Amino acid sequence: MTIKILGTGIGIPSRRVSNDELAHIMGIDTTDEWIQTMTGISHRNICTTETLVDLANQAAASALKNSSIHPTQIDYILGATMGCETSTPSLASHVADHIGATAPSVDLNAACVGFLYCLDYASALIATGRATTVLIVTGERMSSHVDWSDRRTCILFGDGAAAVVVTKGQGLKYINLQTRPDMDVITMKRKMSGTNPLATPDEATPIFLDGQKVFKYAVSLMEEEIITALNTLGWHADEIDHYLIHQANRRIIDFAISRLELSPEKFPMNIAEYGNMSAVSIPALLHELRMAHSIQPGQKLLLCAFGAGMTCGSSVIEWE
Ligand code: UT7
Repeated sequence: MTIKILGTGIGIPSRRVSNDELAHIMGIDTTDEWIQTMTGISHRNICTTETLVDLANQAAASALKNSSIHPTQIDYILGATMGCETSTPSLASHVADHIGATAPSVDLNAACVGFLYCLDYASALIATGRATTVLIVTGERMSSHVDWSDRRTCILFGDGAAAVVVTKGQGLKYINLQTRPDMDVITMKRKMSGTNPLATPDEATPIFLDGQKVFKYAVSLMEEEIITALNTLGWHADEIDHYLIHQANRRIIDFAISRLELSPEKFPMNIAEYGNMSAVSIPALLHELRMAHSIQPGQKLLLCAFGAGMTCGSSVIEWE
């Protein structure tokens, strides 16, 4: 395989909101105890003065610095987002503008699995010689997508951005992506801004999720992805040092821990601090582990995510 991760960075809004504060501000009927017990979330960060573009720029600049890579060395910029403040230019193009790069820039939308999709694209670009070094920037402003009066969804999400610089290497051992089409389980409609008089006007709807259905999908897809990855590589679950699972709900990750009969220490989490940041969750977790010096060369990481679509995927990386 063809890539290794050189460096990471994050951009998180400064406003931190606890469960109690969220309930108070929004006047929703919930409690800190319910949210923590049902999801594992205690805080999330929410954009106030920052835009998503600001967060992505910060994450990208930090990842470049962390990698000792100059923007002119970047051959491609891949963004993963469900949408930034401008439908066009893309988030990736905004980042190119900010860092002073002229490489091609494009966004992918695979909901919470966006980072794994970008990793796969980066790997293909590098394998075919179209790029040597790729900047991946994930960013979601979930606070702008939720209905803040809906206690079933508004408690789940947080805003943030995370970036990763990848280059040629031998670290990527496995990647698998798939879609199990279900168009109703997680949806969000955008209002188009044009004024076509011949069409029925669009209506925007905030993010809707059938929580119980998502939960069931997540548990079964995650188990299937992890077992297929391990079987393909011929590795035992014990041989993985860190399982980086999409941070949608602590109980989903606890399920994986019990099914694989592994130590919870192998499953780092940041959901308590950030909530579900969609495509940002896994690279943000990776960044935090690196900053804590918790990942050593030779260690094996298994990444797994699921999201609207239903998209899902997994990847195994041996750290170089
Ligand atoms: O990354 C992809 C997106 N992530 C997800 O979709 C997360 C996956 N799903 C979940 O994590 C869980 O489904 C939730 C945590 C969202 C909800 O847990 P649940 O066990 O599926 O709850 P539910 O929606 O079936 O609701 C059970 C009860 C309901 O009360 P009634 O109608 O039985 O009286 C809800 O109204 O819990 C109530 N409830 C709440 N109570 C207090 C729902 N949200 C809240 C809340 N505070 N925030």
